Amino acid sequence: MTAAESLVRESLVRPADIVTLQAHILQQQARYPEATGALSWILSALSISAKMIAAHVRRARLDDVLGTVGTQNVQGEQQQKLDVIANEILLRTLGGREGVAIVASEENEEPVILRTEEDAGERKYCVLFDPLDGSSNLDVCGSVGTIFSILRKDHRSPDASASVLQCGSQQVAAGYVLYGSSTVFVLTIGLGVDMFVLDPNYGAFIRVAQGLKIPAAHKSYSVNEGNRRSFPEGYQRYLDWAQEHGYSSRYVGAMVADVHRILLKGGVFMYPPTRKAPNGKLRLMYEANPMAMIVEQAGGKGLIAPGQRILDVQPDDIHQRVPVILGSPEEVDHVAAHLAS
Ligand code: AHG
Ligand code: MN
Ligand code: MN
Repeated sequence: MTAAESLVRESLVRPADIVTLQAHILQQQARYPEATGALSWILSALSISAKMIAAHVRRARLDDVLGTVGTQNVQGEQQQKLDVIANEILLRTLGGREGVAIVASEENEEPVILRTEEDAGERKYCVLFDPLDGSSNLDVCGSVGTIFSILRKDHRSPDASASVLQCGSQQVAAGYVLYGSSTVFVLTIGLGVDMFVLDPNYGAFIRVAQGLKIPAAHKSYSVNEGNRRSFPEGYQRYLDWAQEHGYSSRYVGAMVADVHRILLKGGVFMYPPTRKAPNGKLRLMYEANPMAMIVEQAGGKGLIAPGQRILDVQPDDIHQRVPVILGSPEEVDHVAAHLAS
């Protein structure tokens, strides 16, 4: 083949399509002729929220958005200014979406009923979120994130709180935004995991990966070893075993950043029970469940204990906490084996 011929052949190889998050959402909707578009509108609200929150995060210290507001949230945790700003952004963008019946947030004690069924049309979905995850990293320019979970409204439920208390296996969609060295949007609607990166030049999330699969194994664990002495025995046995077998340790202190690294490179993330948090620190409904849906959709595992899937836990409180073991299937199995022995 002459040089000219190979040049022609190369030019015929189409460069990858440019697919924005918005186009991707519409592509997925087109697969369901009966779809009303309500879920698409919700996902687009989450997309614009992510861009707005990213803009605030990336102007921290230039704008007065750091530090605490002097109030505590329902968790008894100091609210960072950006916790409140991010929460307001999500409530206001989702509030404008017809399909949203109820929103529930880490920052709100009770779920917020946006519209009851008596209003125009049926309200289809509940959206739960952690508006700013890892917010204690903000002051030191560390990674932070937003986590979201979408459930269908349960019409049999007597009230709003009951309607959102569904198992994680009932989620119709889940995802997170990582405000890291770039702004990454990771999404599943139950058909695998897709990843988008915000192009700040155009203000658009561009699809960079489809059908992400977590590596089956990787010798790396992620846990706050400062709490090691108060972990249940099995976790301590696991850490001894891992260190004897040359495992590395990485811990950012923001679940979104730690889980994103494990989704791409493999390994296992843990937040075990501790003396201070006997059920673990992480919240089932808007941290563990959405992250577990994503990791399972990518071929990984998510447990609260050996043989107990995160997505099978029947919630009894919107802010309940659970232990979390999440990541590569073989690495989760190593942890579970030490907990069970
Ligand atoms: P949030 O900022 O939404 O309260 O979440 C913080 C969580 C989670 O992001 C992270 O994995 C964990 O707190 C870190 O806790 P420790 O600082 O106790 O390790
Ligand atoms: Mn969080
Ligand atoms: Mn938070």
